[in-house]
Amino acid sequence: MKKGFVFDLDGVITDTAKFHYLAWKDLADEIGIEIDLKFNEQLKGISRMDSLERILAYGNKSDAFTTEQKEALAEKKNTHYVELLQDLTPDDLLPGVQEFLNDAKAQNVPCAIASASKNAPFILEKLGVQDAFDAIVDPATLTKGKPDPEIFVRAAEAINITPAEAVGFEDAQAGLDGIKAAGMYAVGVYSGEELHGADLIVHHLTDISVAELLQK
Ligand code: G1P
Ligand code: MG
Repeated sequence: MKKGFVFDLDGVITDTAKFHYLAWKDLADEIGIEIDLKFNEQLKGISRMDSLERILAYGNKSDAFTTEQKEALAEKKNTHYVELLQDLTPDDLLPGVQEFLNDAKAQNVPCAIASASKNAPFILEKLGVQDAFDAIVDPATLTKGKPDPEIFVRAAEAINITPAEAVGFEDAQAGLDGIKAAGMYAVGVYSGEELHGADLIVHHLTDISVAELLQK
């Protein structure tokens, strides 16, 4: 029996994954590195600085910038990304999310956010769902990012359940690997790329119910 839900944000609650891609692609272009959607899969669930390092490594430019320059590049991407977020509204929740969260609340099932993004609180506010979550793990406090299970273990702790009592939702392979390594039941939210190791794959949260998942 499961007792709580742990959600990734980008690509699970809302489709901000596309804005991350746009902003990273623009920045990469500017420094002469061409990235595509396939490469972008490797950035999903990965922290801002680690995402930049992966792009630089991909373009053989790992040593081309100082730490200060890299920080400025990451900041530039984030400014562009935050601009793209300005028009987010509750209409940008992915199908079934609002209903699922309402249902969880009605049944007193705690929900937490486990996102590598430092913009998570801002996005949840824009979407009008900040009150649906009992906890948001602060990624700045983590020692390791996804696929390490740390963020998922911390999310379960924050809602007073064990990882074995949690269902985790992810759209990225690194996140799914982290959920499984934490010992949770893993729901993969399919976004066009193949996902491995999920206990269940759904296209949208409309495909499953709170009651059904609590039985897992
Ligand atoms: C960060 C990264 C981004 C990654 C995202 C995962 O978000 O920049 O590449 O896909 O986490 O959710 P940020 O803290 O910059 O919002
Ligand atoms: Mg995601």
